[in-house]
Amino acid sequence: MSNELTDKDNESLNTSRITHYTSRILGIDTSCDDTSAAVIADGRKILSNIVSSQSDIHRKYGGIVPELASRRHIEMIWPVVDEALKTAGLSLTDMDAIAVCYGPGLIGSLLVGCGFAKAAGYARGIPLVAVNHLEGHIFSTFLESQKPEFPFLSLIVSGGHTSLYMIHGFGQYAELGRTRDDAAGEAYDKVSKLIGLGYPGGPVIDRLAKEGDPKAFDFPRAYLPDSYDFSFSGLKTSVKLTVERNPGRAGDQAFLKDIAASFQAAVTDVLVRKTEWAVVKEGTKRVVLSGGVSANSELRARMKQMAEDREVALFLPSLELCTDNAAMIAAAGHYRFLAGEFSGLDLNPKACLPL
Ligand code: KG4
Ligand code: ZN
Repeated sequence: MSNELTDKDNESLNTSRITHYTSRILGIDTSCDDTSAAVIADGRKILSNIVSSQSDIHRKYGGIVPELASRRHIEMIWPVVDEALKTAGLSLTDMDAIAVCYGPGLIGSLLVGCGFAKAAGYARGIPLVAVNHLEGHIFSTFLESQKPEFPFLSLIVSGGHTSLYMIHGFGQYAELGRTRDDAAGEAYDKVSKLIGLGYPGGPVIDRLAKEGDPKAFDFPRAYLPDSYDFSFSGLKTSVKLTVERNPGRAGDQAFLKDIAASFQAAVTDVLVRKTEWAVVKEGTKRVVLSGGVSANSELRARMKQMAEDREVALFLPSLELCTDNAAMIAAAGHYRFLAGEFSGLDLNPKACLPL
């Protein structure tokens, strides 16, 4: 079995010729507040990618309530897997492996996905592949028509992580830096809650920022010289103080738009500049941006400009592959499957799991 597919091979793959696939992987992700299942052929072709969002449940609390998240996963896991299989036109017994995210994430949520994957695998005799959620985010770009070659620089920006890695090959990951406090997505969500825009904060701030003045407020940028680490908690506090100093403007749309635009400019400046430093210092020719915040329009545009200026290739997941999804778990699982790296029924989820 080989993962060396040519572009011609990939073009010839389609759902009417599914028997020609060398691997069919069912991916499952229940790491946070989305229940997702996907079927991927040959690690590249998405036959289905179903995501059941829980945003409506958590919105009124201004953030994720872990107990509610795991309960909803229990209700949704089988319907979502069923829909993923039906959309792919396949059944569970057609799967060569079940790739499940086993961490990092919310432990109650992870338990549901892992428990389901173990039970389904055991019942149908299908091998189990354990995938790190961050590995999934990195490999989301491998589902795009242009996939990156190794080595590459990877910036993961999500609700739980903001980290820079050098990726030398599959399973060969060197961390360069990470956030010392809040993740970028977490800062988006907290600022959004602070100014009454609800959860999740990223998409709504992204939208509002387009109509605001990014120079209206001079929010701090923590560049942390001589380090690839990040820090966003000072920025969040600065936004909080600005809001508190302007009590009369709480419902003023122009004020909120300026806050959103100025906050987003500060986050983007740091993410782009630190990535640019890493490009120069590490001498890399390829950059992969992934995770929920990589859906941000300003970040995508600024990163593209930086890549052009520095003459490096930039790889971005399409918007539906930025935020949590099981297709990326199956994509990473495909490589573990090819390497024969299977897990047993003793697989346990881990809330904290380094890459
Ligand atoms: O990767 P993800 O779906 O879940 C984690 O692994 O954490 O990322 C979710 C995060 C949330 O914090 C959400 O606010 C943020 O991604 N996000 C965005 C955008 N879309 C989602 N942040 C900025 N701009 C966006 N357009
Ligand atoms: Zn994620």
